Amino acid sequence: CGIVGYVGPGSSLEVLVGGLTRLEYRGYDSAGVAVLGDDGVIGTRKRAGKLGVLVEELESSPIGDGHTGIGHTRWATHGGPTDVNAHPHFGDGGRLALIHNGIIENFAELKAELEADGETFESQTDTEVAALLVGRAFHESGDLTEAMRRTVERLEGAFTLLALHQDAPGVVVGARRSSPLVIGLGEGENFLGSDVAAFVEHTRRAMEIGEDQIVTIRPDSVEVIDFAGAPAQAKEFEVSWDASAAEKGGWPSFMKKEISEEPEAVANTLRGRVHEGAVTLHELDGVAEVLQGVNRVIVLGCGTAAYAGMVGKYAVEKWARVPVDVELSHEFRYRDPVLDERTLVVSVSQSGETMDTLMAVRYAREQGARTLSICNTQGATIPRESDAVLYTHAGPEVAVASTKAFVAQVTALYLLGLHLAGLRGTLDAAGIAHQMAELEAVPAKIQSVVETASGRIAELAHWMSDTQSVLFLGRHVGFPVALEGALKLKELAYIHAEGFAAGELKHGPIALIEPGQIVFVVVPSPRDPSSLHKKVVSNIQEIRARGARVIAIAELGDVAVVPFADEVIRIPLAAPFFEPLLAVVPLHIFGMELATAKGLDVDQPRNLAKSVTVE
Ligand code: G6P
Repeated sequence: CGIVGYVGPGSSLEVLVGGLTRLEYRGYDSAGVAVLGDDGVIGTRKRAGKLGVLVEELESSPIGDGHTGIGHTRWATHGGPTDVNAHPHFGDGGRLALIHNGIIENFAELKAELEADGETFESQTDTEVAALLVGRAFHESGDLTEAMRRTVERLEGAFTLLALHQDAPGVVVGARRSSPLVIGLGEGENFLGSDVAAFVEHTRRAMEIGEDQIVTIRPDSVEVIDFAGAPAQAKEFEVSWDASAAEKGGWPSFMKKEISEEPEAVANTLRGRVHEGAVTLHELDGVAEVLQGVNRVIVLGCGTAAYAGMVGKYAVEKWARVPVDVELSHEFRYRDPVLDERTLVVSVSQSGETMDTLMAVRYAREQGARTLSICNTQGATIPRESDAVLYTHAGPEVAVASTKAFVAQVTALYLLGLHLAGLRGTLDAAGIAHQMAELEAVPAKIQSVVETASGRIAELAHWMSDTQSVLFLGRHVGFPVALEGALKLKELAYIHAEGFAAGELKHGPIALIEPGQIVFVVVPSPRDPSSLHKKVVSNIQEIRARGARVIAIAELGDVAVVPFADEVIRIPLAAPFFEPLLAVVPLHIFGMELATAKGLDVDQPRNLAKSVTVE
């Protein structure tokens, strides 16, 4: 869910609606605001549906504006996306408004207790329990911060809560446990948000809030305490991008803009980290000894981030000669993995807030492993809780399905692999410089793919808008690319799509091939000394013989595929490890174009949210 809070001289409604617009990618099945009006009364509107529905309601049926407000966009967990279940929820006879992200695990007990005490519930949400509890505690204590503190003591689970009360004008109180919340520091005004996008339009000065802390903002002060009531320190940071980076800027969709930014996502992730062919990752200086002693790497992530991890595995193992496993975060922690202090757990997460990944990182730490976060979002929870962080500098990613973050994540994993290779002495300086030169050439090559392939892919997608099923094949580093291509199609176009390792085809998936089945094949370079190119071309012949329609993603000049493919999308020449960074681009474009051809919203696909902050 997306959360925003404001206190200050400006128009709360403007700040809230602006913030929610930037946060809508965090959830878009309902939205709501509560504003403490200048008349001293809370005005509220909440509606199921996208933010636009709420904005229309606010226009047709306005509420009084004021200087204290909270707003929410929801990704439903408890209780379906209805007007009633939308946030805010209310306590203290409607005098307190509260919004929530996360899940309150003991809500059933608390609800029973409150009901036994005469409270009635309007919604099916777990949130209303918190609203009633804060309301009751305010009634007793007369202090909103203390009311919040008493309430969080009773809650189990993960949550960010924001509350305002009619009798506390100019105050918004937030609390967080295992769920995102950051502070925005303005001049005579302050903000709270799920991430900095909530307020970056107004200020780039931000503060991180730690686990189990409560923050009270007033126009001229910010106070942070822990759940026991003791003062706590919050760390200030400067947001590295400005509001325009998170705007569409004339593009028809964020996704189209973000795919066009894939070259910069790689270039910016490399920037300042290469000197005369050597990798310089100063942010890892503090863990140099740890890295030297590592005897095993486990990469964790979900969705696209996990596929980036899979690409990384091939390169890190090859270069640094250290065993690398890649695992989905949510599977990892429930299977009693063998970990010790020589295990490096590398989490990959664009948002740095994915709950499954956060929990896996915490578990790894508890088991004594060392943790490194690859993350695209400053101030996020996962990097804050890791021993070290390697930020990707892809810039804000707004479209729900990940694109530019993928290429930045692969780039960061490659930098890490080469850094480890240097520390471990498995590659010499010339070997590292050679790979770095290949990596530095990638942005321009991606650019040429975007320029040359987009038009043709859009045509193909248009013809295929009725397609029911698409398969993707790849081998070696091309395998995770196939998985990523299939994921994009599921996420964006709601088409059944599967990615397979090409070698696995004959062990089962080939039974799926029937006349007309569309199969994308990521073809390895014919210049690669391994014989994978030949093997994949044979796979193409096998499926072609059974009637498949083949779209090959192949290197420029690869003539061997031409007789067997119905269509060839060309990518520039690159060494094998760098092909995924190029081959994935046409697949990103294809997913987007097919969704567009079907008339779907590519930025906000149904049922999804960009950062899933519940397990
Ligand atoms: C969600 C998104 C995916 C994303 C995944 C991991 O499921 O819909 O697009 O790949 O989370 O997100 P993260 O922020 O951890 O990279």
